Formats: sequence, structure tokens, C-alpha cells
Amino acid sequence: MSGAFAGEQSPSPVVLAALIKGRRTIHDFTSDAVPEAAVLEALELACWVPNHHRTEPWRFYLLGETARAQVIELNTAIVRASKGDSAAEAKRKRWNTMPGWLVLTCQVNQDSAREREDYAACCCAAQNLALALWARGIGLKWGTGKVIRSPAFLEILGADAAEEFAVGLFWYGYPAEVPEQVRRPVRELTRILA
Ligand SMILES: Cc1cc2nc3c(=O)[nH]c(=O)nc-3n(C[C@H](O)[C@H](O)[C@H](O)COP(=O)(O)O)c2cc1C
Repeated sequence: MSGAFAGEQSPSPVVLAALIKGRRTIHDFTSDAVPEAAVLEALELACWVPNHHRTEPWRFYLLGETARAQVIELNTAIVRASKGDSAAEAKRKRWNTMPGWLVLTCQVNQDSAREREDYAACCCAAQNLALALWARGIGLKWGTGKVIRSPAFLEILGADAAEEFAVGLFWYGYPAEVPEQVRRPVRELTRILA
């Protein structure tokens, strides 16, 4: 065999398509904990994405009980300020049920074009992460609520806002429910030029 898989077993296109199309954003998880080794393995695969100038701009934070509690407290306060007590307490209750917590940040770059490319690479990493977890039956939800833009959020991580910004707060765990999704036919979104 020649090409990309010379000397190796080629992944089945059918299996790959099923993995890509079957992955869903998971909103509700069981309470079962995901082994840390599975997450670390998925993070290793997350890094194997294109990144211009090989900047490897991603940083990952796995949140333990203390950090989670701090993020929940911060988010509850943010929601309370804009939507009031009962909305805030509803969020607190829901966030307390999330089994696995991970934050992906991107390196700040004073060159905005470079930073944009680095952000693109981090988004690719997020998708690798999602697929690697999904292949092991683990679901992920990418969240970009107000809380991740709060300076206090980075402080909880022990990160410096001059050096990193949050790409997302990711919850992971075993799906309690897998939602359905549809996509527009790609032909409607594609122009083939002469
Ligand atoms: C950058 C980004 C931010 C997202 N933020 C949220 C979010 O804050 N809350 C949420 O419920 N879903 C969020 N999502 C998940 C999308 O809503 C989800 O991907 C979309 O509904 C399609 O579902 P699927 O991932 O199952 O195909 C985000 C996805 C991306 C790529």
C-alpha cells in the first residue's frame, strides 16, 4: 500500500464516518466517573492537530473538587447578577451534577492573525478530544458561557490572563441521553468553481 498509511493498517472510512457523525454534544451525563487515564489519552490525541508554526497553543486543566466548586460559585454569582436568585440556584444545582470538568485555553498572541490561527488550532484540538472520548463511549459538552470570560475564571485555574484565554469549559462523562442532530446537505453549502 502507498500513501498516508503505508505499512500501517488504514482506518476504515465507514468506521471513521460513524464516529464523526455519531458524536453528539452531551447535555446530561450519568454520575459515573471517567477514569483519568482515558481523559489523558484523549488529551494526547487532541494535540495531534494542525497548528501553524507548530505553536502548540493549547493548555489543558483538569478540575478537581476545589476548582469545580470555585467555578460553580463564580458562575452562580454571575447568573445571580443578571438573572436573579432562582436562576442562579438552578444553575448551581445543574452544574453540581456534572461529572468531569476540563478547561482548554489558548496562548495569547499580540499578533492578532497569529492568535486567530492559534485559536483555530485549539478548536481542532477540541474536536480531536471530543472524537477520542466518543470512541470510548464518553461524551463531551463544550461551554462558552460568560463565566469563561471572567478574569476570576483564569485565576481559579492559576493561569495568567496576559498569557492565556479560555477556549471553553468542557464537561465530560458517560451520556445519560444522546440527542439527535441534523445537518444541512453539504451540496447546498458548496460551490464547485470552474
Ligand atoms: C465554540 C462552541 C461553543 C459552544 N458553546 C456551547 C454552550 O455554551 N452551550 C451549549 O449548550 N452548547 C455549546 N456548544 C455546543 C453546540 O451547541 C453543539 O455543538 C451544537 O448544538 C451541535 O450539536 P452536536 O455537537 O451534537 O453536533 C458549543 C459549541 C462550540 C463549537
